[in-house]
Amino acid sequence: MTNMPPADDLMNTYGDFSLELVSGEGAWLIDAEGHRYLDLLAGIAVASLGQGHTAIIEAVTEQIRHLTHTSNFFTHRPELDVARLLIDRFGQNDAKVFFCNSGTEANEAALKLSRLTGKKRILAAVSGFHGRTMGALSLTGQPDKRAAFEPLVPGVEFYPYGDARYLRALIEVNPADTAAIILEPIQGETGVIPAPAGFLRAVRELCDEFGLLMIVDEVQTGVGRTGTFFAHSDDGVVPDVVTMAKGLAGGLPIGAVLARGQAATLFTPGSHGTTFGGNPVSCAAARAVLSTIDSDFCHRIRVKGQRFIDGLSSHRVVSAVRGRGLMLGVVLTHACAKQAVKSGLSHGVILNATSEDVVRLTPPLVISDEDIDEAITRLWAVFDDVDEGITKRSAPAV
Ligand SMILES: Cc1ncc(COP(=O)(O)O)c(C=O)c1O
Repeated sequence: MTNMPPADDLMNTYGDFSLELVSGEGAWLIDAEGHRYLDLLAGIAVASLGQGHTAIIEAVTEQIRHLTHTSNFFTHRPELDVARLLIDRFGQNDAKVFFCNSGTEANEAALKLSRLTGKKRILAAVSGFHGRTMGALSLTGQPDKRAAFEPLVPGVEFYPYGDARYLRALIEVNPADTAAIILEPIQGETGVIPAPAGFLRAVRELCDEFGLLMIVDEVQTGVGRTGTFFAHSDDGVVPDVVTMAKGLAGGLPIGAVLARGQAATLFTPGSHGTTFGGNPVSCAAARAVLSTIDSDFCHRIRVKGQRFIDGLSSHRVVSAVRGRGLMLGVVLTHACAKQAVKSGLSHGVILNATSEDVVRLTPPLVISDEDIDEAITRLWAVFDDVDEGITKRSAPAV
């Protein structure tokens, strides 16, 4: 493990950094001292094609040679191509796309869209995560992240994730002023918690009954991560608005909002915008990613996810492996996830803890079977360490 140089020039938003990284190849990362790590995080579900993927390198290099930035007074081929590819994947020909630079911005845009319906209430899930800017934070159902920044955007009310009955009662408090329901198909930041079976359908039905926008945040789950291009398609529903970011350009900054029907026409000139949104280089990378992630590729993601589940489930400190495709939460029998992340570094594997007892796995989607097997071996060593720690802590004092 690297001796970390001090990072005193950076604001302390992320606590201590555990590594200084210098390069990578596929699902491997290399630190400043030359140590190699198997990457089971992919920059939090971002480096979908891993590091150094030829399709991205070629797309970006070629694009930057021609056009780096245009402003939004002009459009360009990569932006138009990515919009069309997204609409095709969404399967809704009346859909339109707005490009921005991140997940939080995509959700800001969705929030602003909902206000343009003329109604003010938006219902968001307890424990959901939609980003850190003031609007997206207002939609985020995690009091510890919100408290210091209140007052936030008014009009947001929270429902227990998965509880359609509660949601109906909440809408009925003031249906005439309710604009939208927002949700993640799998809550990522709270411990990889999939929506209960039938919940997305129930939300769709409520939105149809009361004339609300169904906004699905696919920032983390989208672009093949769960084994279908959009996680919501597993539930057989079509949202009105979908927000995306993370894996869309394989590591270059991008965000996107897809909207269909009335929602696609709510923004008009002057109502929203961003200088860098739809940047040609990011869009060229996104076009390369979208050309790579086809339905066969998505199918293989499910198979790879199952390989992880099969390889990890029987360890004695693992109580369950939940999630879909390559968005998995390994639930531990004890609150030792942070210890697992630390031990991971000494075993050359990069992990992430999303709660006290859940280790999140979001490796590059291109991870090979051989690397998955290596990852499983290393994870067993990590979980053995965790188990030893538990045994020591619970041993009676002598
Ligand atoms: C579901 C979801 N929405 C929104 C965001 C915010 O995205 P960003 O960090 O790109 O602003 C995240 C980030 O983790 C996320 O997981």
